[in-house]
Amino acid sequence: MIQDGMTQDGAKRAAGEAAALLVEDGMRVGLGTGSTMRHVVAALGRRGVRIVGVPTSVETEAQARGLGIALDEPNATPIDLAIDGADEVELGTLRLIKGLGGALLREKIVAQTSRRFVIVADATKKVAHLGERAPLPVEVVRYGHAATAARIAAIGGAPRLRLGRDGAPFVTDGGNHVFDCAGFAPILDPFTLERTLHTIAGVVETGLFLMRVEQVLIATEGGTIEILR
Ligand code: A5P
Repeated sequence: MIQDGMTQDGAKRAAGEAAALLVEDGMRVGLGTGSTMRHVVAALGRRGVRIVGVPTSVETEAQARGLGIALDEPNATPIDLAIDGADEVELGTLRLIKGLGGALLREKIVAQTSRRFVIVADATKKVAHLGERAPLPVEVVRYGHAATAARIAAIGGAPRLRLGRDGAPFVTDGGNHVFDCAGFAPILDPFTLERTLHTIAGVVETGLFLMRVEQVLIATEGGTIEILR
């Protein structure tokens, strides 16, 4: 419980419904992944806005398709607005950690091709420094992933191979594995860490989202929406 009468899911729903109000007919909209985004997509379905959605996961694609939302892949046409959840939001900078849901690669592709990037989250996601509450997800190709992990470990990442519910290594929509790296916390220089991780062969993408975030909609304990810009 966040507070009496307001569950964490209720807070996510409130933030999701507020974010859905930013969407207008005719927009090309990036649709992120996760439990908060499910509320955004559901609200878009209820509103019946005529948009083209660009989903960031098989899961979101299935939900949006079921609601009759037209869909497309990222391409040369910019996305007007991308909405997504986050695992951490750094106060002051609005830098993010994402990817605990495993959709970081598609989420980053969509975020980078969007004119506007808006985050929806509940208040538990706010941190003073990245890495405080979430490990940093790093998506790697399956080939030689143990060797890639050894190189991430050598720079202090303490990588742990993510497992699925069945106990087997988790496989992303892109067919890759994910290492959750708690060893980088607190992440005080995320730009250098991002560059360093990308020098390691086998690393596909990291959960550091350092691009401009227009606003973060956070459902507060009282059920109102706090807007961070
Ligand atoms: C998916 O890969 C993540 O980046 C999600 O955006 C993140 O895990 C947020 O999920 P919740 O809304 O379920 O907290």
